[in-house]
Amino acid sequence: MKTTIKKSYKFAVKTAFYITLINTVLIAAVLFVSKAFNVGILLGFFTFCYIISFLIIQYRVERFIYRRVKKIYDDLTLLESASLRKQPITTDMATLTQEIDKFAKDKKLEIETLKVREEYRKEFLGNVSHELKTPLFTVQGYVLTLLDGAMNNEKLREKYLERANKGVERLIYIVQDLDMITKLEVGDLSLNIETFDIVELVASVFDLLEMKSAKKKITLTFDMVYPNPILVKADKERIRQVLTNLVVNSIKYGRFKGTTEISIENLIKNKVIVRVTDNGEGIAKANIPRLFERFYRIDKSGSRKEGGSGLGLAIVKHIIEAHDEKIYIESELSVGSEFSFTLEKAQ
Ligand SMILES: Nc1ncnc2c1ncn2[C@@H]1O[C@H](COP(=O)(O)OP(=O)(O)OP(=O)(O)O)[C@@H](O)[C@H]1O
Ligand SMILES: [Mg+2]
Repeated sequence: MKTTIKKSYKFAVKTAFYITLINTVLIAAVLFVSKAFNVGILLGFFTFCYIISFLIIQYRVERFIYRRVKKIYDDLTLLESASLRKQPITTDMATLTQEIDKFAKDKKLEIETLKVREEYRKEFLGNVSHELKTPLFTVQGYVLTLLDGAMNNEKLREKYLERANKGVERLIYIVQDLDMITKLEVGDLSLNIETFDIVELVASVFDLLEMKSAKKKITLTFDMVYPNPILVKADKERIRQVLTNLVVNSIKYGRFKGTTEISIENLIKNKVIVRVTDNGEGIAKANIPRLFERFYRIDKSGSRKEGGSGLGLAIVKHIIEAHDEKIYIESELSVGSEFSFTLEKAQ
């Protein structure tokens, strides 16, 4: 890397002037005392002295100060401060101090960010192992029971194998979600944007979840008949995932014989808003702000039967944000919830 040097002469100019002034006054005094006072000589001396002083001082400054300043710059650049590298070296101490100050502030910020990230990483790992433990122990429990002799009983054998398989399915589900969220957080999930009919997509999500909703006698429905397709521009598979997560939640946290309703409305000229409304258990105000955090569940006891890992809404939010769209939630405890998100209309 080649550093350019922005020279400053101010120091030499001033110092040379002071030295010359003092010397000239001294010489003037000497000339006066020896009665040989002569303005011509004085002016000549002044000029000569000034030039010599200036040259020597400037030379010394360059050699000793510039070198050190340059070293400071080089050291800072070694630490990879992109902001400093682009700027020319200056001998102006005020600027240098300012820059070092800025450098220190940047570094401090960087350290803070790293600390936060480290915290986040630790928490993430803790959550992951915690989430994996339960199904793993379940599977192990059944396998051990089988090995202990239950496998000789044909009825128990099948039942326990099925339960162990449930545990494995749960593990796979968690790992898939984790994989997804990691990709979304790293940002290397490229969207496959296409134009598709959102009405048809919602209908197909309803079809897929019909069995699940039937178990709780929950009706999955549109708010009205949509006779015409509504074309949007988005990643169809990801939006399918968003809708699936929201509808599954509305079933999981919905009440028996409840309703999940989806509406698609024009929002502004080029946006539509998709609303997923249920009349289920609802969410207390205090819990809403944290809802989209990874692993966040309102009921952490794990005792309730609808146990998820709390990744669903985090994934939903990531997907919507990757589309540069927004997601909203409105909910009232024991009344119901409404999750809505925007999508770009295809022209
Ligand atoms: N429609 C809803 N009604 C009431 N509570 C909800 C609703 N949707 C989400 N919640 C609450 O928000 C929490 C987080 O939801 P999220 O989908 O992220 O996780 P999960 O459903 O518990 O697990 P996962 O989706 O990963 O299987 C849920 O545990 C639930 O308490
Ligand atoms: Mg969920």
